[in-house]
Amino acid sequence: MSFTISRAVVIGSGTMGGGIAAHFANAGIPVYLLDVTMEIVKASFERMKKNKPAAFHTPETAALVTIGALDSHEQWIAEGDWIVEAIYENMEAKRELVARIDRLRKPNSIVSSNTSGLPIHQISANASPEFKKHFIGTHFFNPPRYMKLLEVIPTPDTAPEVTTFVRNFAEQRLGKGVVLCKDTPNFIANRLASVGGASLSDYVLEHDYTVEEVDAIAGPLIGRPKTAAYRLQDLVGLDVASAVASNLYDLIPNDESREVLRSPRVEALRKAQMDKGRLGDKTGQGFYKKDGKTILSLDIKSGEYRERIEPAIPSLAEAAKIKKLPERLNFVLQQDDKAGALARHIVYDALAYASRRVPEISDDLPSIDNAVRWGFSHDLGPFELWDAIGVKQTVDAMSKHGVEPAPWVREMLAAGHDTFYKNGSVYDPESKSYVAIEKDARQISLATCRVIKENKGASLRDLGDGVLCLEFHTKMNTLDEDIRAMFHTAVDELESGEWLGLVIGNEGSDFCVGANLAGGLAGDPNAAVKGMQDALMRVRFAAKPSVAAPFGRTLGGGVEVTMAASRIVAASETYMGLVEVGVGLIPGAGGCKEMVRRVVSPEMKKTPGADPLPFVQNVLQTVGAANVSTSGEEARSLGFLTDADRVVMNRDHLLHEAKQEVLALAAAGYAPPVNGENCFIGGRDVLAALKAGIHVLHQGGYMTDYDAVISAKLATVLCGGNLTSPQWVTEQFLLDLEREVFVSLLGDQRTMDRIQHMLKTGKPLRN
Ligand code: NAI
Repeated sequence: MSFTISRAVVIGSGTMGGGIAAHFANAGIPVYLLDVTMEIVKASFERMKKNKPAAFHTPETAALVTIGALDSHEQWIAEGDWIVEAIYENMEAKRELVARIDRLRKPNSIVSSNTSGLPIHQISANASPEFKKHFIGTHFFNPPRYMKLLEVIPTPDTAPEVTTFVRNFAEQRLGKGVVLCKDTPNFIANRLASVGGASLSDYVLEHDYTVEEVDAIAGPLIGRPKTAAYRLQDLVGLDVASAVASNLYDLIPNDESREVLRSPRVEALRKAQMDKGRLGDKTGQGFYKKDGKTILSLDIKSGEYRERIEPAIPSLAEAAKIKKLPERLNFVLQQDDKAGALARHIVYDALAYASRRVPEISDDLPSIDNAVRWGFSHDLGPFELWDAIGVKQTVDAMSKHGVEPAPWVREMLAAGHDTFYKNGSVYDPESKSYVAIEKDARQISLATCRVIKENKGASLRDLGDGVLCLEFHTKMNTLDEDIRAMFHTAVDELESGEWLGLVIGNEGSDFCVGANLAGGLAGDPNAAVKGMQDALMRVRFAAKPSVAAPFGRTLGGGVEVTMAASRIVAASETYMGLVEVGVGLIPGAGGCKEMVRRVVSPEMKKTPGADPLPFVQNVLQTVGAANVSTSGEEARSLGFLTDADRVVMNRDHLLHEAKQEVLALAAAGYAPPVNGENCFIGGRDVLAALKAGIHVLHQGGYMTDYDAVISAKLATVLCGGNLTSPQWVTEQFLLDLEREVFVSLLGDQRTMDRIQHMLKTGKPLRN
């Protein structure tokens, strides 16, 4: 059996169906989106287009989705290579729909069900054998574009080729982190979260915690996201959480912890909240309520909303000073106060419960850790966390608190094994030994790559197969002297050694947020900017190819670095922008030059004699308004990426894909660009037109005084200064011009005010 997905069909256009359809479209796949009536699906589609954060990579992506009513367009099902069912959580309705799909689907098409926890094999119980072979559970997390986890649940009838295909496709084309699950109630992530969440809620009600206290303790303090407990509850919706919990109870008769799902305290609070329509964000009120600009909190006892009360637990501030999670958590767990007590309850309960679910919900520990990290954005999964805070000491502490881990954990310790993970292998409770962790050939881990050269801000590593990698590792990957020096080192090494090419990539939380404003501009600014320009020009004209691999925030100088490379291989979640005007500057290390070269010049080459004004205006708008892309594809629309650059859906595959691109460029006989008159500038007349536009915007109140000053200077650079006629100029000509303007702006007090404000508040000053 082989599969090709040229067309997807998604049935049910609600929160999940809509998000899944949008994400298939993000992967470039045309989608039919169906719902009961045209009115419903139309309303859903409009909502999808306005979603924040955006469901679609670009506004144009939405054109890949065609909407219809199920009864009038059921024949569309026959066109689907993959049909996703995402209707509401009801077994009978899902079975009815399965019967219909079974009747209509074309041979070899894949069918998947998106359910929070209904047994997959029961959904397909009455279907044909052919259908069952091609049927599988795909549990996306909300929102499907952004949440990394996809639980894939084969039934005993699912053909192994279908499971393999779905897994690979989801990882590569949809960019998901796939965890294969057994068909047990609520699968992995929601099973742990439902029981853990109920246990937390029961405890805090019993011990009179405020909602602020709970959220201050159950969030980043213990390695969980800021949404912690009650804010997460408001986000998910009390109705959804309540339905999941109540469905689960009956399905897990042998689960020793299930009684907590029926906690009378929790049920009473839930009922009171639901009776008042306080379902969370979707009804505008839940455990928190927005009141104009302030956020009120629920007083659990009185049931009324009140102003926020800061938690009065001194150890919280102490703990917040400890950067590393294991040390911080161990500190919190030892506190003899409300923070310590709740942290002990949450953490001991969660770890022990996870261990007791092996092998019921999973045979292997990494699946559970991945599900929790990817599905709920915890810093570490339960077994990783347990290792980090000490397995033995935690088991001893659990005993003192009446919490019992699975017998296999004690057995493991008794056999002298004191961690779950060890040197790339993981403990396997079945064989009672360590087994190698399956490696994905599409993932490169920089830590395993030999360091060739290194300084405080950057390293040069060997990615294997003749490819180098220049890795930044400053705070937030800001550019500094060390990184600048490493560019020179990298090109020296690249050109003198037996290397095929260079990747510029890293594994930070953002690719690069720009120049280091705090220290990077000290000393002689002209020399500093010239230094960076020269370094990037060396990369651009090096004899061997380079590929930049941006992801996450890629701002200011970060964009200039990527544009200096021969190619860009960007993650689909790349937020790219030349944002210098926010701090009173213009791009100074080739950003202006590259935008002219990438956006204006190709048009003028194609159509000599054409009017360059609209193209220069376009660049002025992008850079002058500090536009930041909301995706890799949008970075292309803004002109940062060219048609030759690629966008990769799975961030974990990015370094591997960038390396493949280097190898392809080298194999194709790479020749560096010619350093000639590569940039077309519009000259004096275009500049006059741009300045007139700036004047109008300023007069209309759309620009502050200083914005107008900066925009006019930016326009001057983009037009080539005071050259009287449109013409082709060298890259160095534009670099000199942008540097001169950059340095002059740096001498202006209003720029200094913007920089200081940004450093203090993290927000731009509009002076
Ligand atoms: P929803 O209530 O937002 O949307 C369900 C949609 O299905 C509605 O537009 C409804 O009109 C449509 N529908 C109902 N019966 C239909 C039928 N017979 N034919 C065609 N369309 C029909 O529900 P949501 O949240 O999108 O959930 C869908 C599924 O995904 C459920 O099984 C849910 O448990 C699961 N899920 C939900 C998550 C969430 O966070 N909301 C997360 C993961 C899974």
